[in-house]
Amino acid sequence: MLRSDFPPSFAFGLATAAYQIEGSVSADGRGDSIWDTFARRPGAIADGQTGEIADDHYRRMSDDVALLAELGVDAYRFSISWPRLQADGTGPVNPRGLDFYRRLAEELLDRGITPWVTLYHWDLPQALEDAGGWLDRDTARRFAEYAGLAADGLGDIVTNWITLNEPWCSAFLGYASGVHAPGRTEGSHAARAAHHLLLAHGLAVPVLREKVPDASVGVTLNLYSVRPDGDQPAAVDAARRIDGLSNRLFLDPVLTGSYPLDVLDDLGEAEWFARNASAADLASIAAPLDFLGVNYYSRHTVAPGVVETEASAYPGSASVEFVTTGAPRTQMGWEVVPEGLIDVLEMASARAPGLPLVVTENGSAFEDVVSSDGVVHDSERLEYLRDHLAACANAIARGLPLTGYFGWSLIDNFEWAWGYSRRFGLVHVDYETQQRTLKDSGSWLKAFLHERDSSVSGD
Ligand code: FCB
Repeated sequence: MLRSDFPPSFAFGLATAAYQIEGSVSADGRGDSIWDTFARRPGAIADGQTGEIADDHYRRMSDDVALLAELGVDAYRFSISWPRLQADGTGPVNPRGLDFYRRLAEELLDRGITPWVTLYHWDLPQALEDAGGWLDRDTARRFAEYAGLAADGLGDIVTNWITLNEPWCSAFLGYASGVHAPGRTEGSHAARAAHHLLLAHGLAVPVLREKVPDASVGVTLNLYSVRPDGDQPAAVDAARRIDGLSNRLFLDPVLTGSYPLDVLDDLGEAEWFARNASAADLASIAAPLDFLGVNYYSRHTVAPGVVETEASAYPGSASVEFVTTGAPRTQMGWEVVPEGLIDVLEMASARAPGLPLVVTENGSAFEDVVSSDGVVHDSERLEYLRDHLAACANAIARGLPLTGYFGWSLIDNFEWAWGYSRRFGLVHVDYETQQRTLKDSGSWLKAFLHERDSSVSGD
C-alpha cells in the first residue's frame, strides 16, 4: 500500500485534544473545565493523575508543530479548550487564550499543514456544569455563542471545523456511568444530555457558516461495528440495543432528522423526547454538513447477560454483555478489527449518500517499551495503523466517499480516566523530561507519507 494509491486530495493527518496535551491549566486566564475538577476527585483518574502538565504542549507548541512537519502530514486536528476562550463559559473572548490557537493555526499554515479545529473535546467550563451542564438546555445556546467567538477569532485562517467530539462519550460516560467528567450517574437522563449536545452542534453550524467564508463543517461521532454473538433472538436484540445507543441515537438525528424510537423506548425517555425534542430542534440538529467525522477504534460483539450493579454507560440496556471473540486486543481491551471501519463508514453513508466522510480518529494503545537504543519498537501499533489505512483504501475502492484519515494520536497523552497509563502516540513522550521520540509507528507513517520504502527495521 502506497500513499499514491489514495486520491491526491486525500488528507492524512494526526489528532490531539486540548486537555490531553496542553497542561498550563491556569495560564493566561484559563478557567477550570469539568476535567480539572473531575481529576481532583479522589479515585476518578488512575494514580490520581491530572492534565495539569500533560505534554506541556501549551509551551512547546512550536516544537510539536515541527514534529508534525517532520512526519509530513497534510492536516492536524486539535481542539480548543473552551475555558481558555471563556473562563466561565460566558462573556467576551479572552484574547490571551485565543492568541494561543491563532499562533498554532498560523504555524501550521506556515508549514503547509491544514488546521482542523474541534470546538468541543469534552472540556466544558466548570461554571456551566455548575449551572446544570449538558442536562440543561441552555448549555447548547452557550456553546453556539462560544462557537461564534472561536469563528470570529480564527475564521479567517481556519476553514475546517468540527463542532463536537464523540457526544456519546460526553453524554453516557459523563452522565450515566460517570467514568468521565463530570462524573454523574443519572441513568437514562444521560440521553437528555445527548439531545442538548446535538442541539449545541445544530445551533453552532449556521453560526460557523455565517462567520467563516468557505467553512467546511462537520461533527465527529464515535461509531462501532456491532454484531450479535450468534443468531439467537436475545443476542440479536442485544445488538439492536447497543447499535441503537452507540450509533443510531446520534447518526439518525444528525443525518436524517429523527431519533430512533426503539432506542428512546429502551431508555424509557420517549415521553421526555416527545415533549422536549421539538421538530425545530431536529431541524437544527440535521443542518446540512460538509463532512461527517468518524472515530473508529473497535467492534462490539454482544449477547444477553446479567444486569450490572455499577452505573452502566448503556442505561436501559445494562444487561447486555460485551463478548470477547478471540480477536487480538489492544491494551485498552479493544478488539482490533480493521474491517469494522468499513462497516461504520457504510452505516453512515447509507443515511447520507455522497456525504464526505473523514476518519477523525483511529489508533491503539499498547504497552510501550523504550529499548536500549532509545526507541519504541511498537510493531503492534504500526500494524494497527497500516491495517486501518489499508481498510481506508478498501473503503475508497468500494466507492465510499472517504476523504481523510487522522491517526490518534500525534503524541502520548493524558488518556482521560486512565491517566498516563495508556499510550496512543506515534511519538513517545518521556513525562519526566518531556522529550519526544518517534516510535517505529511514527517512522513508518513518515516513510509512507514521503512514499519511501516504509519497512521499518528498527534503525
Ligand atoms: C477517543 C477520544 C480521544 C482518545 C481516544 C483514545 O474516544 O476522542 O480523546 O481518548 O478515544
